[in-house]
Amino acid sequence: MTEQKKKDHWSSEAYAASASFVPNLTQKILAWLSPQPTDRVLDIGCGDGKFTAKFIDHVGYVLGVDASPAMIDAANKSYRSEKAEFRVVDCRYLEREEGVISAGWDKIISNAALHWILRDESTRTSTIRAIHSALRPGGRFIFEQGGHGNVGEVLTAFLAVLSHPRYGFSVARLHELSPWYFATEDWMRRTLEEVGFVVEQLEIEYRPTRLTEDDNGKPGSSGLEGWIRLMGAQFLEALKDDADRDATVARICEVLEPVVTREDGSRWLGYVRLRGVARKV
Ligand SMILES: C[S@@+](CC[C@H](N)C(=O)[O-])C[C@H]1O[C@@H](n2cnc3c(N)ncnc32)[C@H](O)[C@@H]1O
Repeated sequence: MTEQKKKDHWSSEAYAASASFVPNLTQKILAWLSPQPTDRVLDIGCGDGKFTAKFIDHVGYVLGVDASPAMIDAANKSYRSEKAEFRVVDCRYLEREEGVISAGWDKIISNAALHWILRDESTRTSTIRAIHSALRPGGRFIFEQGGHGNVGEVLTAFLAVLSHPRYGFSVARLHELSPWYFATEDWMRRTLEEVGFVVEQLEIEYRPTRLTEDDNGKPGSSGLEGWIRLMGAQFLEALKDDADRDATVARICEVLEPVVTREDGSRWLGYVRLRGVARKV
């Protein structure tokens, strides 16, 4: 399989400005992690380390891996210690990381990253198989990701705006450009069992999520626009130049504003979370 290198769309500043709630709304999987002082934990798609930092002090050792050099750089700057290291790894090809796979982790955790990592259909099952291989027998994989229907209004707005004839994209092409794979419970259960896991917990939750306020003095870096620019970067990259991107983001926000804004002016996206715990027997 040829490796497709991806552009780094992530920035720890943009992530903090427009998605600081992501590492914070994680009480359930942190409870399922049930951190123990002897645990050796692998955090898949660790980002800037803010989520990892919630359990570093309660475990023996953590390795955070993420495909974004910018996010790993931020994680190392803020949280690197004897107990916590962070390394650039494209988890679509996790099975190639000898040292990570053979480590026999007690627990592997992942928050809000699998819907990006599993986007590529050709490596979807092999990544889950590699996670299974990397655990010790009896070890657990604890995860939360966008589930089927996640941010459906945003995806629909991207498809509706960008399928206008002036862009020249077919709807099928736009689906290819989408950076996300929002798995169903059925797909996840089947895949976890196929690679040898016993599924201990699996649930899907509709969890409307309040966006950050666009009030940090840098227009467009937070709020709805900041979210669209950061999370939808792969759609926007397909446009011809910055002027086209700016006009398109403005149109998408115009379409979304009345859908996501409540009476008090707060803006909420229809997050759907798929979370679970799987044990290696
Ligand atoms: C929404 S952030 C979540 C970060 C962190 N887990 C948290 O809870 O804040 C998604 C992360 O997935 C990472 N990611 C996307 N594709 C990846 C891949 N193929 N391999 C590893 N990480 C990936 C991104 O770089 C990004 O840091």
